[in-house]
Amino acid sequence: MRVIVTGGAGFIGSHVAEALCATGHHVYVLDDLSTGRRENVPDGAVFVEGDVRDEALVEDLFRDVRPDAVVHQAAQTSVTVSVREPRRDADVNIGGTVVLLEAARRHGVARFVFASTGGAIYGEVPEGTRAEIGWPERPESPYGIGKLAAEHYVRAATGPIPHTAILRYANVYGPRQDPHGEAGVVAIFTERLLDGAPVTIYGMAEAGDGGCVRDYVFVGDVVDANLAALAGRLAAPVVHVATGVGTRTSDLLAALERHFGPASQVVHAPPRPGDLGRSVLAPCPDLAAPTPLDEGLAATVAWFRAQRER
Ligand SMILES: NC(=O)c1ccc[n+]([C@@H]2O[C@H](COP(=O)([O-])OP(=O)(O)OC[C@H]3O[C@@H](n4cnc5c(N)ncnc54)[C@H](O)[C@@H]3O)[C@@H](O)[C@H]2O)c1
Repeated sequence: MRVIVTGGAGFIGSHVAEALCATGHHVYVLDDLSTGRRENVPDGAVFVEGDVRDEALVEDLFRDVRPDAVVHQAAQTSVTVSVREPRRDADVNIGGTVVLLEAARRHGVARFVFASTGGAIYGEVPEGTRAEIGWPERPESPYGIGKLAAEHYVRAATGPIPHTAILRYANVYGPRQDPHGEAGVVAIFTERLLDGAPVTIYGMAEAGDGGCVRDYVFVGDVVDANLAALAGRLAAPVVHVATGVGTRTSDLLAALERHFGPASQVVHAPPRPGDLGRSVLAPCPDLAAPTPLDEGLAATVAWFRAQRER
C-alpha cells in the first residue's frame, strides 16, 4: 500500500512509519517538525515537511502520492497548550483532520486511521472500573474536546472513505518519547534516573499519596493496533489501545528503579491542577495481549541507555 503517515517524525508516528516500511509498504511522512524530529523518520520513508492545515500542500501530496491509506498521527498533543491556546489546538486537531479527510475523499483513499485519546475523553474513571467504548464522553480540556470533535468528522466521512478506524490510545510510552514535555512520565523518569537527578511525584488527592493512576501502553502495541486497523482487522469503528491495568505513579517509579537503583531524591508535590486522578481503559478484544509493563519498560530503558552511549 501507499500510505501517508502524518506526524511520522514524532514519537508514535515514527514507529508506525518504521513498521509500515519494514512490511513493504510505500510510506510518505507529512510532518511540520513542530515537536517531531527529522531523524525519527525511518530511512525507507519519503519525508515531506509541511503542515496538515496547508490545503495546497496536502492537495499536491495526495495528487502525487495517490495514497491507498492515511494514518493520521499529527496533532497538537499538549493538554496544557490546549488550555492556553484553544484556538491553535482546534485549528490543528480539528481543522487539520478535516483538511486530510477532504483530500482523502477527493482522491478516493480507501482507508483512514485516526489517532485519538482515551485518557482525555472520559474524565475520571472510578476505582475498580475501566472505561468502556460507549461510556459517556466528558472531555475536560480543549485537547479532549478537539480530539472528540475530530472523531465525529472521521465518522461522518465514513462511506465516501470506505474504511475508517478511530484508535483511542491510553498513556503511550516507549523508545523515542520526548522526555522534555509535561507528559510522558516514563520518559521523564527514565531521563532523570539516568542523570541521577531528583524525580517528582504529583499527588492524586494530596502530596505523598503515590500519585495518579494511568494505563501505560507500550508503543509497539500501538503500532500493532495501527497495522490491524489498516488491514481491516478491527471489527469496531472505535477501539481502545490500552492494557486495562492501572499503575500508580509511585509503582511506575519503583518498576523503573529496578533498572537504575533508587532515585537520588523523590519530591512529593501536590496534585497538578487539571490532572485526572485515575484513567484506565478496557482493552480492545480484537488486539493481541498487551506487552507487560516490565517488558515494555525494559525495552524503553535499553533505548534511552543506548542513546547516551552514541
Ligand atoms: N503519547 C500518548 O500517550 C498519546 C495518547 C493519546 C493520544 N495520542 C495521540 O497520538 C498521536 C501521536 O502523538 P505523539 O505522542 O507521538 O506526539 P508527538 O508530538 O511526538 O507527535 C506528533 C507529531 O505531529 C507533528 N505535528 C504537529 N502539528 C502538526 C501539523 N500542524 N502539521 C504536521 N505535523 C504536525 C509533530 O511535529 C510531531 O512529529 C497524536 O495524535 C496524539 O494526540 C498520544
